[in-house]
Amino acid sequence: MNDDFKVTPWEVTGEIDYDQLITRFGTKKMDQELIDRLAGYGELHPMLRRGVVYSHRDFDWLLDQYDKGNRFFLYTGRGPSGGTHLGHLMPWMFNRYLQDLFKVNMYFQLTDDEKYLFNENLSLEDTKMAAYENVLDFIALGFEPENTKVILDTKDIKLLYPLALKVAKRVTFSTAKAVFGFENSHNIGQIFYTSIQAAPCFIEDALYGKKTPCLIPCGIDQDAHFRVARDVAPLLGYPKPTLIYNKMFPGLTGSDKMSSSQPQTTIFTTDKPKDVKKKIGNAFTGGQVSVEEQRKLGGRPEVCSVFKYQYYLFENDDKALDDLTERCRKGEILCGECKQLLTKRINEFLEEHQRKREEAKERLHEFLLPDSC
Ligand code: TRP
Repeated sequence: MNDDFKVTPWEVTGEIDYDQLITRFGTKKMDQELIDRLAGYGELHPMLRRGVVYSHRDFDWLLDQYDKGNRFFLYTGRGPSGGTHLGHLMPWMFNRYLQDLFKVNMYFQLTDDEKYLFNENLSLEDTKMAAYENVLDFIALGFEPENTKVILDTKDIKLLYPLALKVAKRVTFSTAKAVFGFENSHNIGQIFYTSIQAAPCFIEDALYGKKTPCLIPCGIDQDAHFRVARDVAPLLGYPKPTLIYNKMFPGLTGSDKMSSSQPQTTIFTTDKPKDVKKKIGNAFTGGQVSVEEQRKLGGRPEVCSVFKYQYYLFENDDKALDDLTERCRKGEILCGECKQLLTKRINEFLEEHQRKREEAKERLHEFLLPDSC
């Protein structure tokens, strides 16, 4: 068994065995029964059909509640440490889909405090500025201010603080150490931080005096925070927040996670077409050493980062994806052509995204919570 990987909120390394992670964390698999049930609400998102969104906590309970007329709200977030890349967009797009499907409120937390506390090289000004840049990418995905609000931790602390305190009072240092592996060298802000990420799970109580159930679609790396939040929730008289987890968006190097600390192999939402061309051009593929070999033996889509991009994000048509897989395996399509196809797709997507991102600048204020909250 491959045990040699790490998935925590601060570090994702090694080759991730997602099934094993289900056992490690004690989450549930998004099984066929649940997927079929979801299909009853509307068209299934490709991320569901393909197992990119693959695990959950109490999502079935949440649907029971919904069916009884008890609405939920969506919550997800971003730690603003730099530019937004495609890996960040993936769960946000899934949130957008769910919001459309269930017509519910959405809250998006920007943790400028977190990234300041956890990154020696970033000032609070840096993380706050990154937050305002990141949120443009979120808005550009088509969210509307009527049912979507953005929480910026340092700006909205008045709203978050009473909730965070209630959480903090019920989490011992010993639990925090066990869950996050804190040591004496960690600063005390880091230890407190999980209560700030837990706070939005209960935000409709602070805003409207309602104990609305919460659904958090996000990367599986965030599970540690929400294990804590779920343990505490009943002690505070709240429903446990529920979750659906996606796998990490792959890097262009063939690694399991795209990482902003490697800009040459990360596609940012503000990249120019020539940057994208270059990055995809250098990407790790499942190709053979020579054209002759590839024609003879075929490629290996299962290890190819270019293929994974189509699979995770860019080819929504299952039939077209199957065709591509087959042509690759048979050696009918070579890596160069495949890279060109993907480059074109990404650049078309980014052109549109960047236009919407510009428009978002004019509308940003509509998404912010009023200071009186
Ligand atoms: N800690 C997350 C990060 O580093 C940011 C975040 C805050 C978040 N609240 C969240 C992510 C809720 C997912 C869901 O990116």
